[in-house]
Amino acid sequence: MVMYTIGVAPRLLFSRLTPFDGERRWARDLARVARSRVISRATHLRFYMPPAVISDFGRRGRVLGIFLTIFCPGTLATSLPVMTERASPFDLEISAGLEHQTEGQSFFVSWNDIITLPTSELEIQGEFVPGKQTITIVMLKDLWGSLPVDAAHDTLIAYCTDGYFSIYQPGFLATQKPFIVVRINGAGPDEWPPEGLDFNPGPFVISVSDKLVPGTQDILDVGHKRPWGVNNVQFVSLAEIMAPARSGPWANLSKRGEDGRELWINSCSSCHEGPQGLSGGNKSQRPFPILAVHAQHNEDFFRQYVRDPKSLVPSATMEPHPHYSDEQLDALVAFITAEQSGG
Ligand code: HEC
Repeated sequence: MVMYTIGVAPRLLFSRLTPFDGERRWARDLARVARSRVISRATHLRFYMPPAVISDFGRRGRVLGIFLTIFCPGTLATSLPVMTERASPFDLEISAGLEHQTEGQSFFVSWNDIITLPTSELEIQGEFVPGKQTITIVMLKDLWGSLPVDAAHDTLIAYCTDGYFSIYQPGFLATQKPFIVVRINGAGPDEWPPEGLDFNPGPFVISVSDKLVPGTQDILDVGHKRPWGVNNVQFVSLAEIMAPARSGPWANLSKRGEDGRELWINSCSSCHEGPQGLSGGNKSQRPFPILAVHAQHNEDFFRQYVRDPKSLVPSATMEPHPHYSDEQLDALVAFITAEQSGG
């Protein structure tokens, strides 16, 4: 049974801060009170401060504290504290998609709070360090469910410290059960890289596993669903995010072009922005029109570059795609060149 209780922070309710020095100070105070008075008393008690309340304070210069504490005996905590500023390098930035979040505004959730969600352990082989290792995970679904995500949003985007981008579409989220890796062999991100790995995979890693969903390993380019160095996520609407690839010259794509669009968004977009500003990573530093020129006027080069960049440019750093079939390359070319249906 889930019981909702509304609690009140007496020190903050209907009192005045004079001088009032801004919503940030208020948010900090509220967070401190919340932590000391609520969370430390019972780990299954959580509070969530609606962001609207924060901005209302800013505007009115009046202090009103409302805790919505949600009591869920023995089950998933329904909400995590959302902070308006970064307090630690191990906070996960959420740069879009929460209720009342304005454009350009970021919220943060701390690693310490994320690990209060249900965790489980998976024994896997060779993903971070050689041989057997145990990872501690939090399901993305649980993180999603514990945040005030705008109801219109159905897709998660992760951005990494190196400009890398990963997209988790609704179907993938539902069937592949992606998760956040919060510990590797018992060590959290403040102790990464874990012993046996030179590269720090933190602050956050999202991943999927055959151990949870058999067959995950066989998804095309599944590596793009296992980004390291994730420091920022956005909850978005798939229809909105894909609009640039479904409008203008891309409105009436051939069937091949549509297949290519799916391939593009799940693979190439990790490092390349797409047509008409379609979201993607910027790791490649190659604007879309350059790729389009290759695909349009120098198709052989394009196909060979995608399969094996180093065979053409020895200094190339792009990962090779030797596993792509001729049909998959046809589809990519059809998408990039906006091949029209019926044409
Ligand atoms: C892991 C990152 C990454 C992914 C994934 C990736 N690329 Fe690239 N790509 C790069 C980088 C970096 C370059 C810049 C040249 C280099 O170092 O290879 C590049 C360059 C290119 C070029 C040559 C442009 C030029 O003239 O410099 C083409 C064509 C290209 N990518 C197509 C693709 C396609 C199509 C896909 C999807 C199947 C893709 N790339 C996926 C990183 C990536």
